[in-house]
Amino acid sequence: MADLTTEFLGIKSPNPFWLASAPPTDKEYNVRRAFEAGWGGVVWKTLGSEGPPVVNVNGPRYGAIYGADRRLLGLNNIELITDRPLQTNLEEIKRVKADYPDRAIIVSLMVPCEEQAWKDILPLVEETGADGIELNFGCPHGMSERGMGAAVGQVPEYIEMVTRWCKQYYSKPVIVKLTPNITDVRKPAEAAKRGGADAVSLINTINSITSVNLDTMSPEPSIDGKGSHGGYCGPAVKPIAMSMVSEIARNPETRGLPISGIGGVTTWRDAAEFMALGCGNVQVCTAAMTYGFKVVQEMISGLSDWMDEKGHNSIQDFVGMAVPNVTDWQYLNLNYVAKAKIDQDACIKCGRCYAACEDTSHQAISMSADRVFEVIDAECVACNLCVDVCPVEDCISMEAMKPGEVDPRTGKVVEKEYANWTTHPNNPGAVAAE
Ligand SMILES: Cc1cc2nc3c(=O)[nH]c(=O)nc-3n(C[C@H](O)[C@H](O)[C@H](O)COP(=O)(O)O)c2cc1C
Repeated sequence: MADLTTEFLGIKSPNPFWLASAPPTDKEYNVRRAFEAGWGGVVWKTLGSEGPPVVNVNGPRYGAIYGADRRLLGLNNIELITDRPLQTNLEEIKRVKADYPDRAIIVSLMVPCEEQAWKDILPLVEETGADGIELNFGCPHGMSERGMGAAVGQVPEYIEMVTRWCKQYYSKPVIVKLTPNITDVRKPAEAAKRGGADAVSLINTINSITSVNLDTMSPEPSIDGKGSHGGYCGPAVKPIAMSMVSEIARNPETRGLPISGIGGVTTWRDAAEFMALGCGNVQVCTAAMTYGFKVVQEMISGLSDWMDEKGHNSIQDFVGMAVPNVTDWQYLNLNYVAKAKIDQDACIKCGRCYAACEDTSHQAISMSADRVFEVIDAECVACNLCVDVCPVEDCISMEAMKPGEVDPRTGKVVEKEYANWTTHPNNPGAVAAE
């Protein structure tokens, strides 16, 4: 059976599934139950300095976006960092780590952007025996207004400075957690590396307003008639997170910097995709909050089965495997030609493909009087919209034309060499890249 053991920054865990810093990791009771359920590690809910207590709202903290089957697709929250006393958290971390030496415990931290504040808290964290720290430079609400969280994560110079302090006053691995609320995620990742970070983790939550109550005209979640933006997460953010991860993985300035992937991981497949894009492990929050801690069992067995099927003996066998295939648009092979194909046996004759193609695309699907839908190859540009709107999985597929065949739309012969388009002499991108 495939070996799921992970060594991320030298920190061993029995599998690559860690719980992200959030309510599931806010206390000893939760973390013990999470470990019993099989999670490989946790990033403890963010701790702050001793000082004025953190006070959360007493109304709804969460808002949600659902699919048609009311499956939760996106979660929005206006929660702050832990509102439990620092000392209580530190004692609990120490106890749990002592009882679960084979699991990873990382302590998430957010204190003011002052050297003394970091100098004060880091020895206390070191004392717990936890395996490392994660710097929360991402929280987009509540704390950022106080000059912490995303307020630090949006300024590369601050990231570099704070990371450097942490490397100076703490001996174990330092992970910098990045905010997605920024234009170019490569800049904060580069700053983290300059500051000496051992890894980056991403993404934290995305600024969001999930809904507006049209009776009260208040954004939701609404606290006494008013709402503020929260942080968005869950399956809906996975594409954004994976794009950001891939940008960091293939940036020459940060290539090789370990990445912990976060954002919408719900199944083993999501995890495998993040890891193929260069993540040494993944962190999960919304899936655990939606389905409970035991969801990790599905992740473990699914990943293990897939690795066996593909002949991957260890996690390292496939981490980063997809990175060389992430490229810029100009390097895409414009000689590659595909056409849509409809499986008539699977078709339920709903006509969605026809409506979408006829009204908004290339008029490349015909409909007969008895509702048989067929692709007109001479019009099809293989845009994929029919595949995307078809309610039956695998009913419509895109099939690549073979080299030597003539594309009935353009009259051109499909070239043999299209696999090497990156270096093709007719590719202006390849010339520009020289
Ligand atoms: C209710 C809630 C509270 C969170 N609190 C924290 C936090 O204290 N520190 C932190 O770094 N991230 C926090 N996060 C962000 C998560 O750690 C994670 O980055 C984000 O939810 C994306 O992962 P997901 O799509 O698996 O939920 C929180 C998320 C949620 C939903």
